Amino acid sequence: MFKNDLLENKTIIITGGGTGLGKSMATRFGELGANLVLTSRREAVLDEAAREINDKTGAEVLTVPTDIRHSDQVTEMVKKAVDKFGKIDCLLNNAAGNFISPTENLSENAFRTIIDIVLIGTFNCTQAAGKAMRKSGGGAILNIVTTYAFTGSGYVVPSACAKGGVLAMTRSLAVEWAKYGIRTNAIAPGPFPTKGAWKRLVPPGLNIEKKMMERVPLKRFGEHEELANLASYLMADESGYMNGEVVTMDGGEWLKGAGQFNELERMPSLAWKAMDIARKRKK
Ligand code: COA
Repeated sequence: MFKNDLLENKTIIITGGGTGLGKSMATRFGELGANLVLTSRREAVLDEAAREINDKTGAEVLTVPTDIRHSDQVTEMVKKAVDKFGKIDCLLNNAAGNFISPTENLSENAFRTIIDIVLIGTFNCTQAAGKAMRKSGGGAILNIVTTYAFTGSGYVVPSACAKGGVLAMTRSLAVEWAKYGIRTNAIAPGPFPTKGAWKRLVPPGLNIEKKMMERVPLKRFGEHEELANLASYLMADESGYMNGEVVTMDGGEWLKGAGQFNELERMPSLAWKAMDIARKRKK
């Protein structure tokens, strides 16, 4: 799909890069020639992912255990990345925290924990990596949001509030930091199965997974490779005029929920025929 050296000489920080979609995107960036900086809280998980990615792609991978809620740790992580690779070209704000809960059951700390990881964590990384990017003449920031950043969603209210904030940050900095040569974009993925998300967000025993798939007009979940290719494009110089955009990749899921008449999909073809006959008779 891309030339093999699409991301050559680029250093990309991937938060939450040790597992799930973060790891998949990091692997694709590595295949396309990037140097990688993987962060998450768990050192052993990061080191294992780094080994795997290096074996598969040959990419140079630096791992820096970091809790992105703490700006001092983030500053240190970016410093280590610059010390190793000389500069930062791209930041993928992928790390997140989420769980499902009736909102009335949430403590202040539960709400704050998600805001801290998703919104404050994204701010901390953006601030520190942005500073490094400004020094080296620019870069690209890509934020992973979600389609319910547009619509809101019950049962994940802290996450919806935090991701809505990240979307506002994306659009704000696209304007404010363009003068530094920094582009800021977002991807809003729909359902892409990962162990972590499924464990936290898909309640067992309700057969809800099948219903989730039926909500998607394309009748399937996303493949990690599909998201990773979109992220690679948005990191590459070839997307240099993309700025402030949020690209939805969800098989049409959120629009299906939004369109007033989309439920008519369930109307049998016989009913459509009967309506047609009745209309023609009236003429
Ligand atoms: N329902 C309601 N409240 C919950 C909850 C749930 N399922 N899970 C955690 N909380 C509350 C805790 O009770 C605590 O509040 P309290 O102190 O008032 O009791 C607060 O949230 C913080 O929980 P804690 O486990 O101490 O936070 P943590 O920093 O160790 O973990 C999480 C953060 C909860 C987001 C954890 O799931 C995590 O680390 N996730 C990272 C990965 C992730 O979520 N990725 C997203 C995939 S979709």
